[in-house]
Amino acid sequence: MHIASRAQKIEPFYVMEVAKAAAALGREVAHTDAPMVFLNIGEPDFTAPPLVQAAAEHAVRTGQSQYTQATGLEPLRERISAWYASRFGVDVPARRIVVTAGASAALHLACLALIESGDEILMPDPSYPCNRHFVSAAEGQAVLIPTTAEERFQLSAAKVEAAWGSRTRGVLLASPSNPTGTSIHPDELRRIHQVVQAKGGITLVDEIYLALSFDAQFGQTALALDDNIISINSFSKYFNMTGWRLGWMVVPDTLVPVIERLAQNLFICPSTIAQHAALACFESESIALYEQRRNEFKARRDYFIPALNAMGLTVPVMPDGAFYAWADCSAACAKLGVKDSWDFAYEVMHRAHVAVTPGRDFGTAQTANFVRFSTASSMAQLQEAVTRLRSILI
Ligand SMILES: Cc1ncc(COP(=O)(O)O)c(C=O)c1O
Repeated sequence: MHIASRAQKIEPFYVMEVAKAAAALGREVAHTDAPMVFLNIGEPDFTAPPLVQAAAEHAVRTGQSQYTQATGLEPLRERISAWYASRFGVDVPARRIVVTAGASAALHLACLALIESGDEILMPDPSYPCNRHFVSAAEGQAVLIPTTAEERFQLSAAKVEAAWGSRTRGVLLASPSNPTGTSIHPDELRRIHQVVQAKGGITLVDEIYLALSFDAQFGQTALALDDNIISINSFSKYFNMTGWRLGWMVVPDTLVPVIERLAQNLFICPSTIAQHAALACFESESIALYEQRRNEFKARRDYFIPALNAMGLTVPVMPDGAFYAWADCSAACAKLGVKDSWDFAYEVMHRAHVAVTPGRDFGTAQTANFVRFSTASSMAQLQEAVTRLRSILI
């Protein structure tokens, strides 16, 4: 069978191999005194709050399951708009909000709407692996720009300016980022956007972890800067609804009908049940629970990152949001006698029964020296992981 070149260009998700091996070993050791601790998974260990579950049940029982508008239920768009006003003090009219099947569909729609064949999109190295594949699925080319700890592993205006070429169409940033949990300072983002605007390009900012921000200086939406910025968001992370497949994007007015046309044809609409459920996310009782959980994520970070640093798994920049630790494992690799982060992941999986994600999929610049830990597991699990990692590293 002939496989289209666009599909062939999508690289395999290498970390799934590590995840599969960890899951298999996890089954073997499940009933021993050292069951696997999974710190490789990028999703909250919490599930949707009671009101959200009840709203989903109600939608199912009352048959509210027909297709919705491609752009989403009007009341949900209104609620999201009100959330921007109350949480970020930013006026984002509901008409510019398009509800999607997760941030993934939003990224896919944005790339299809904006990228011509051969266009280049700049993004930081390291960054979320699927982003470059959304770009290549639209027949564009992701250009990864190596970043440093001093830059918080984010792009700078100077680097964007220097990397801009005749085929460059825009930048795709994530703030806070997966895998680093670090954000772009709003002043730097403003400067990046100015460079992009001057070149006639597009600024796409993935803000899926924004509400899981722990530092006021970074916790501002890019939408405060300019209506021309495209922001991607999701119910997966802060709202603890990964498998419900619901997200949204905020786009300039001129783009709404374009995205709507694409969404109508490609997806018809996001899950109706999930949309009805998501309305309950914005009830004060649900928000109170989400904030409690955000504090829990912060407490986990405050415990886990110093513990990693103390055992030589250096996290060069303290994450200011999300639930990841991007740790330099080169000293630990030398200690364990393994060559890179890929082998390190297998070594700690087998010797300590701790599953981590090697850097490989997130880019090429320094990723052989870095691993990503997810702190989306309970404090007890994190403490157990620290005890076990210390036992092989110290
Ligand atoms: C930075 C980033 N963007 C997008 C996504 C996709 O999220 P969703 O579940 O909303 O499709 C993820 C998932 O891990 C992510 O980390």
